[in-house]
Amino acid sequence: MKILTVLGARPQFIKAAALHRELKSVPDVQEILVHTGQHFDENMSDIFFKEMEIPKPRYRLGIHSSNHGTMTGRMLEAIEKLIEQEKPDLALVYGDTNTTLAGALAAKKLHVPLGHIEAGLRSFNMQMPEEINRILTDRISDLLFCPTDIAVENLYKEGFEHFNCEIFKTGDVMLDAALYYGQRSAERSDIIERLGDGDFILATLHRAENTDDPQTLVQLVEALNRIGKEIRVVLPLHPRTRKKLEELKLKPTVLITDAVGYFDMLELLKHCRLVATDSGGLQKEAYFFGKHCITLRDQTEWSELVQHGVNVVAGTHADNIVDAYHTLSKQHSDFTTDFYGNGLAAKHITNDIVNYLNKR
Ligand code: UD1
Repeated sequence: MKILTVLGARPQFIKAAALHRELKSVPDVQEILVHTGQHFDENMSDIFFKEMEIPKPRYRLGIHSSNHGTMTGRMLEAIEKLIEQEKPDLALVYGDTNTTLAGALAAKKLHVPLGHIEAGLRSFNMQMPEEINRILTDRISDLLFCPTDIAVENLYKEGFEHFNCEIFKTGDVMLDAALYYGQRSAERSDIIERLGDGDFILATLHRAENTDDPQTLVQLVEALNRIGKEIRVVLPLHPRTRKKLEELKLKPTVLITDAVGYFDMLELLKHCRLVATDSGGLQKEAYFFGKHCITLRDQTEWSELVQHGVNVVAGTHADNIVDAYHTLSKQHSDFTTDFYGNGLAAKHITNDIVNYLNKR
């Protein structure tokens, strides 16, 4: 069974690492990795391969830093050629990036069965490139691996039971990764020593809708600066955000670091007071490590966390974000409900894939 995994962006390396460990335990399965190159800085890409012991991708396409159409189109063209060459039995894509959509289209048009990991998530905001990517990818996937009940419900509400696909609730591979690598991160990271004593909140920012509108970015920086007067704010910066801050000559007065690797991120999560982020993945990781989260967007795909009271969708106005910080820093919550499964998502996905391919 030959599986072609298409990845290219930071969160996909983490998810693919969890699944790779399971897939390689099946004797019949051969996994071929294709790295589109969407993320390419050492600390956005290679560090994850080293830390998480993911094998070197067989193919590196080196496609990045262009607008959506060009990036997706060039990836589609290159992946199509690889699929014709490799003739996989199944293609796997992750999440909601341009890499995801390009891999999905290339596979489907060549009639290669397609599996989508992190299927069924919705922000209901069609202005986000990620929402477009995930809806289109779901629609053409044969195997939809949903991390949560809400993701499964979303697909049923959209009529997916009438389509020719199989829907599985598997739990979340990011929990698998957090549990596995979280046991190793203390030995492998010295970031907490380097930061020195003292409480801090962990913040990240990279969404296009937050970084590309100057007024929004100004509000977000103001919010972090104001919170920073009460508690240290640690902000590992995505290259996109760094570029935008420089263009606008904005200088947040918080503790800025380069983007960090996974072990450092896990240690920051374990030790922070709470998380403020526009990242999808980090909202869940906050929950895995028992931390409240302020979501710096108007929607979230992880609505179970909001209903549970541990995540506040604060939007992008400084006052609302500072208020959310004050509310959440006093709150005590339950973090034991297993919304994301029990750390065995990759095992479930592997079994579902093997069963599917055996039936064909
Ligand atoms: C992408 C995904 C988003 C995901 C995020 C994870 C899309 C549409 N968005 O957003 O869903 O949550 O990855 O991080 O696919 N850059 C560098 N070095 C790098 C990577 C990026 O300088 O290693 C620059 C790019 O050149 C570009 C900018 O950062 O100018 C944004 O990168 P891009 O790949 O467009 O999207 P992300 O914001 O990372």
